[in-house]
Amino acid sequence: MEKKRSSFTGEIGFVLAAAGSAVGLGNLWRFPYLAAQYGGGIFILVYVILALTFGFTLMATEIAIGRKTKKSPSIAYKQLHPKFGFIGWLSTIVPIIILPYYCVIGGWVVKYMVTFIGGNGKAAAADNYFGTFIGASSSPLIYFAIYLGLTAIVILLGVEKGIEKISKFLMPLLLAISVVIAVYIMTLPGAGAGLKYYLLPDFSKFSLKTVCAAMGQMFYSLSIAMGILITYGSYARDDTSLTKSVNQIEFFDTAVALLAGLMVVPAVYIFSGEAGTKASGAGLMFITLPKVFEQMKGGMIIGALFFVLVFLAALTSSISLMEAVVSSLMDRFKMGRVKASVICLVLSVILGVPSSLGNGVWSNITIMGMDFLTFFDYLSNSVLMPIVALATSIMIGWVLGADTILDEMTKNNEKLGREKLFRVMIKYVSPVFLLVILVFFTLVQFGWISY
Ligand code: PHE
Repeated sequence: MEKKRSSFTGEIGFVLAAAGSAVGLGNLWRFPYLAAQYGGGIFILVYVILALTFGFTLMATEIAIGRKTKKSPSIAYKQLHPKFGFIGWLSTIVPIIILPYYCVIGGWVVKYMVTFIGGNGKAAAADNYFGTFIGASSSPLIYFAIYLGLTAIVILLGVEKGIEKISKFLMPLLLAISVVIAVYIMTLPGAGAGLKYYLLPDFSKFSLKTVCAAMGQMFYSLSIAMGILITYGSYARDDTSLTKSVNQIEFFDTAVALLAGLMVVPAVYIFSGEAGTKASGAGLMFITLPKVFEQMKGGMIIGALFFVLVFLAALTSSISLMEAVVSSLMDRFKMGRVKASVICLVLSVILGVPSSLGNGVWSNITIMGMDFLTFFDYLSNSVLMPIVALATSIMIGWVLGADTILDEMTKNNEKLGREKLFRVMIKYVSPVFLLVILVFFTLVQFGWISY
């Protein structure tokens, strides 16, 4: 007899777990930078409109596929249409590729969190601190292992006792910390100018690139095409209102991105000027911000709080990645949670070690000119994910029909409100947008256009 599938106990658990997946490094180290660079308020406006239309469509589609089939992606797609089984495979590969390098970065976050909490934040602001750390041969590996282990513990505890419980506890905490930091930073002298830089629309910076940047960011930020939303959707109860849930998840994710901008942009602007706001990603988080905290009154405490925030955001995302892999293994090969987790751990170590060392000891080894981490990031984000989402849109929009999703979304007699929009988006607009993402980010990666 088949074992009963795990499920979230209720709507709140489901929403917070999915929001936990959505809120991640992307919100904290990428959104503020993009908003600052691509026109401030106008970028934010474009982003929100895209989230409510394009993001809504893709997110609703994946969650509904999950709940309808009650399967993780490796089987769900095949069950919907045998010819589209290959998307299931692709979207299972995506989290397998992302999880290891995400945990490498998670390890860096743990290192900084521990350093700031231990009162050594000043040391972390020194010039070569980050380079020395990631260039070492064993320390980044140890932190990678610690972070991966923490993620695995939650997964081993299961859907209700692990993922749901921890999301219900961590997500409100994360929101509270975000508000505290943002409020504190906005009260610093000089924050007003930074705030203006972040929020005032600057139409001279508005171009097609603004739209592409917003599209790519939204796509990544909502955890689309990573197999995650299908997996979490498959754990959603039949009486959960998917319409309401999608809105709430999007709201949570966008709120944290906006809050991140409220803390990061003014803080960097005050202490490093406009030039400082040109940093994003690891450079922003591990080099620029520690220097900012060092100069800020109360900066050691805010720095510690900030890295706790980053840690929580990253952890709930890596949990969702690992669950997508484990759940696929369990469904596909009918294995238990422990065995699937062990296999996932082994895979993650094999793929994670090169990403970890690729920034230091193995930095002379490159693939298509990229270090391992960058290569895995490119392969998943810019190639596989747009392909998965594109194929999904075609399957629903052109082969199975939008009602496959709409019926599932409104199963509990809810009103969707955006039905027409959904039909047009899934059939015509999403495929075009996804093609644009695919082409744009490939051109960026190979340096053909600057971004
Ligand atoms: N949505 C996440 C973010 O904004 C991206 C992500 C989710 C990455 C899950 C990995 C796993 O950072």
